[in-house]
Amino acid sequence: MARFYVTTPIYYVNDAPHIGHAYTTVIADAMARWHRLLGDDVFFLTGTDEHGLKVAQTAEQNGVTPQEWTDRTSERFKEAWSLLDISYDDFIRTTEPRHYAAVQAFLQTIHDIGDIELGVYEGLYCVACEDYYTDAQAPDGNCPIHGRPLDLLKEENYFFKLSRYEQRLLDWYAAQPDAVVPEAKRNEAVGFIKQGLQDISITRTSLSWGVPVPWDDKHVFYVWYDALINYCTAIGYGVDAERFATWWPSVHHLIGKEIIRFHCVWWPAMCMAAGIDPPSQVLVHGWLLVGGEKMSKTKLNQIAPAQLVDEFGVDAYRYHFLRDQSFGPDGDFSYEGMVARYNADLANNFGNLLSRVATVVGKKCGGIGPAPRADSPLADLARESYAAAAAAWARTAPSDALDAVWRLIRETNAFLEANEPWKAEPGPDVDAVMGDALEALRVVAVLASPAMPRVCDELWQRIGLSGSPSSARLPDAAAWGGYPGGLTVTKGEPLFPRKQG
Ligand code: MSP
Repeated sequence: MARFYVTTPIYYVNDAPHIGHAYTTVIADAMARWHRLLGDDVFFLTGTDEHGLKVAQTAEQNGVTPQEWTDRTSERFKEAWSLLDISYDDFIRTTEPRHYAAVQAFLQTIHDIGDIELGVYEGLYCVACEDYYTDAQAPDGNCPIHGRPLDLLKEENYFFKLSRYEQRLLDWYAAQPDAVVPEAKRNEAVGFIKQGLQDISITRTSLSWGVPVPWDDKHVFYVWYDALINYCTAIGYGVDAERFATWWPSVHHLIGKEIIRFHCVWWPAMCMAAGIDPPSQVLVHGWLLVGGEKMSKTKLNQIAPAQLVDEFGVDAYRYHFLRDQSFGPDGDFSYEGMVARYNADLANNFGNLLSRVATVVGKKCGGIGPAPRADSPLADLARESYAAAAAAWARTAPSDALDAVWRLIRETNAFLEANEPWKAEPGPDVDAVMGDALEALRVVAVLASPAMPRVCDELWQRIGLSGSPSSARLPDAAAWGGYPGGLTVTKGEPLFPRKQG
């Protein structure tokens, strides 16, 4: 059986979940759901990143212990994902004992082979990034991302000898053309390595909120160094070799473009040092911007998913973010754009198709959906839609996958307009047209279910089918002719009532 292991970054708990976090999580969820339709064995991991200075400081500002703070905020991520119908298989928290054990085992292995050494670190640090900058990267002493003054840190740290991995990383990338997609991001990762790699400081003594270093109790691990290992913790690293080997190294890490260096330089080197293969693929997407800017707490331009779900519903929310922006470049979110797309794609196309079909079946077919024709003019379109959607999901292009499904919706609407069954007398001609349209709707319900699981369940029931399109299995479920006919079709309320623009 094919396997599909997909991850999101684990999110920092200093911030409440916003539509940027949800952007990655919804894409990962839709991919997981697509692979479940394919019959693959899927493992979908998300979670929260709970250590580090930033979280410790946020807890202090809020007058609670870091543990209390992380318990509270981690819960907010779980609530957001439940609101958005995120079907994760595991939610990892880096403060869990299983993660401490995995981090300690992983890094002890690297210490044992001699690639972790003690040294003194002095450098400019940005707490918001939890990252160091060189003078060249921050000539004015301010963080290039946050614009705030950097702190000068000096302490005795353990260093990972990243510099020893330069050539091995370059060789690995040369042999793995798909290790990072899109290609521009792969070039960026290789570019980082070619510039020359410095050893990295991986422990802290100035902070106690972290995973303790097993060989030196004065130190805790630097947050990024513990965080990356979550991808291994969750599949049994160090405790269940068989389970680990089942899922690793064939994994798809979805990340935003600002954490390429960690995932595409540090992480593969850490894996090599620990004696495991690097992750097979990192999929890098751009930022979702609001008013042309990245969302941030300080700019007060963050939008919580609930604000939009309340207004549009969960399926329209998911559809919008999967469809509006292609995976890779940055994209701007606007409320007006969301209303326009909702009205065009969901109210006028998807919702309208179901409502037309149900109305005509009610009036002309006694409310019982007829069976489709084997030689329907829609059959080829349905096949093409499936093939194009499958190809798009395979290259992580959710927007293209949905576009392919919407082509079938539009063509089915056009087919109804050309045939005008609402004007015809009841009889075999109307039955034939309506059977074809119902079958197209059935295929749409299956193909759109990774994006809009609830509404596709609803559509499935309204055309009289039992069960759920999410339990269907491809490719059979997309084959023309699956709608049996003879089922009760229900009109119901509009799936997507039109919004005032
Ligand atoms: N904790 C680290 C990740 C550790 S992974 C081992 C971290 N957390 S974060 O809370 O800052 O989340 C960053 C991720 O959230 C991005 O890489 C991206 O996946 C998602 N996004 C956050 N804001 C975003 C946008 N505005 N647009 C798109 N994605 C964004 O970094």
